[in-house]
Amino acid sequence: MFKSKIKWIKKSENEALILIALDGTFGSLPGQFFMMKSGDFPVIPRPFSVYFEDEIRGETLFLLKPRGLLTEEALSWQIGHELKLKGPLGNPIPVIEGANLVAGGSGYAPLHFYGSKYGYKNFYLGTTSKEEADFLNNLPNLKITCGPLVVTERFFQDNNEGAVIACGPTPMLQHLSEQYHGGSVYVSIEERMACGTGMCEGCAVKLKSGEIKFVCKDGPLFDGKEVDWQWLT
Ligand code: FES
Repeated sequence: MFKSKIKWIKKSENEALILIALDGTFGSLPGQFFMMKSGDFPVIPRPFSVYFEDEIRGETLFLLKPRGLLTEEALSWQIGHELKLKGPLGNPIPVIEGANLVAGGSGYAPLHFYGSKYGYKNFYLGTTSKEEADFLNNLPNLKITCGPLVVTERFFQDNNEGAVIACGPTPMLQHLSEQYHGGSVYVSIEERMACGTGMCEGCAVKLKSGEIKFVCKDGPLFDGKEVDWQWLT
C-alpha cells in the first residue's frame, strides 16, 4: 500500500456524504477503485471507486457515505490526514458512445468520473435527501430524483433507448437489467471486497451460464442481462 494525504474535504449539509481530495494522481480511469485504510484501521481495507482524477490540480477524489466504521471515522478527518491506499484496481469502464448513465447514492462516484471524462446521453441520479441532491448536482443536465419517485422509475418514464451503464444498490441494478429492453445494460456491482486482487474469492458473482466471476478482478462492470441475480441477492 502507499500513502497519500487529504488535500481538501467537503461534506454535504446533513453530513450524509463526504468528498475528499487526495494529494496526487495515480493513473486511474473511470470504474477503477482503490482499497483504503486510515492508519491501521480497519484491518481489512475498504474499496472506494474513484470519483474524479484531476491531472491539472494533481488530486484524486473519492465520495464517501458514512455508514461503516471507516466512513464514519471520515467525518472527523481533516486536511493533512494520511490514508493508505492500494490501486488503481479493477477494469476501467469501456467507452460506450452516447450511453445513458443511472446512479443510485454513492454509485454516483464511478459514473461521475465516467460522465466527466467521456460524456453521456442522459444521466439519472437517485438521492435520499435534498442535501445529497444539492451536493451532487455538479454535472450538466443531471436528472436527479429525491424520493418518493425512485431513479429507475424516472428513467423508465422517459422511454430511453440505447445502452445503459448503472451503478448503485443491487435491487436497482437487477430491476434495470430485467426490465429495460431499449439496449444493453452494463452494471457496476459494488460487492464487499477484502483483497481487491482476486485472491480471497469474497466478491463472487455467478453468471446465468453458471460461470463464477469476481468483481475485483473481472469487473466491476458486468453485462446485467448475463448476471444470475437470484444467486446474488
Ligand atoms: Fe478478494 Fe475479490 S476482493 S477476490
